[in-house]
Amino acid sequence: MEQPIRMKNNGQISITLTPKTKQDPVIEVQFTRKERTKELEVLMEIEEELGTLVGLDEIKRIIKEIYAWIIINRKREEMGLKNSQLVLHMMFKGNPGTGKTTVARLIGKLFHKIHVLPKGHLIEAERADLVGEYIGHTAQKTRDLIKRALGGILFIDEAYSLGRGGEKDFGKEAIDTLVTHMENRANEFILILAGYPQEMERFLQLNPGLKSRFPIIIEFPDYTVDELMKIAQKLVREKEYQFTPDAERKLREHLVLVKTLYHTKHFSNGRYIRNIVEKSIRAQAMRLLLSNSFDRKELMTIRSVDLVFPDD
Ligand SMILES: Nc1ncnc2c1ncn2[C@@H]1O[C@H](COP(=O)(O)OP(=O)(O)OP(=O)(O)O)[C@@H](O)[C@H]1O
Ligand SMILES: [Mg+2]
Repeated sequence: MEQPIRMKNNGQISITLTPKTKQDPVIEVQFTRKERTKELEVLMEIEEELGTLVGLDEIKRIIKEIYAWIIINRKREEMGLKNSQLVLHMMFKGNPGTGKTTVARLIGKLFHKIHVLPKGHLIEAERADLVGEYIGHTAQKTRDLIKRALGGILFIDEAYSLGRGGEKDFGKEAIDTLVTHMENRANEFILILAGYPQEMERFLQLNPGLKSRFPIIIEFPDYTVDELMKIAQKLVREKEYQFTPDAERKLREHLVLVKTLYHTKHFSNGRYIRNIVEKSIRAQAMRLLLSNSFDRKELMTIRSVDLVFPDD
């Protein structure tokens, strides 16, 4: 991210909300001397946490925008101005492995930090966790799930499957229960519905009121080869390994090929990379064991022979 936060000499902080265009609206956030360090620190921490994610600039921008919005709302409240209700339910649209779960988890953590969520935990659920087997069962199951999510995030993956069966399906009962609670308890938990772009778009059309209930809709684009390489490097670095230049070249070539062969819907982006890294680490372990070479550098090195690709 290019200089999204600027600290001025007079103690003001300016947050650039839309770094992409020339006409950036710049929100000036005034802090009193006492608050300044705390607010600035949190903002820096948010920056740092977001920095661990490769790409996803749009999402990073939105998260900082929400932070600014929250601060301003608090300031307005202090000045006796009207405080707009913060409805933070979200919809994540993206192909497999594009970081939806990772981002939801991070949002829980960050929102807890800025006191938007008392707990900030993430409850991950799917259709079977909400939909019951007899009349009344679904509403009960869904309510129980929401109860567990209070103070944090309820993340429903492949949410469109709730609308799959039409009018007679219990999935509809789950949607109705969710809609009721997301309004009545809007400030007590955040509902995130996630799924593939096309299916989520169709899901939104099922109920005309649905779209307006999710003020934040975030699209997760497929990663480019460069971004996938960065994710791979980050994953190996975190585990204290590194690729040889040869291994890197081989991985890049493989990714270019795979991205042209696969239909995007079937390519699992970040998860695909994670699987390759994990398999390669096991292959390296076997190679080192057989060759009896255990020096520190070798223990950290992933060579091209170690790279294991699906379908190999
Ligand atoms: N932007 C990113 N930066 C670093 N690592 C990432 C990023 N996006 C994804 N990953 C890695 O890819 C893996 C898969 O990501 P995640 O589970 O968040 O995807 P998802 O969109 O929830 O997938 P699905 O729709 O299949 O549930 C994660 O374990 C994470 O390590
Ligand atoms: Mg996921």
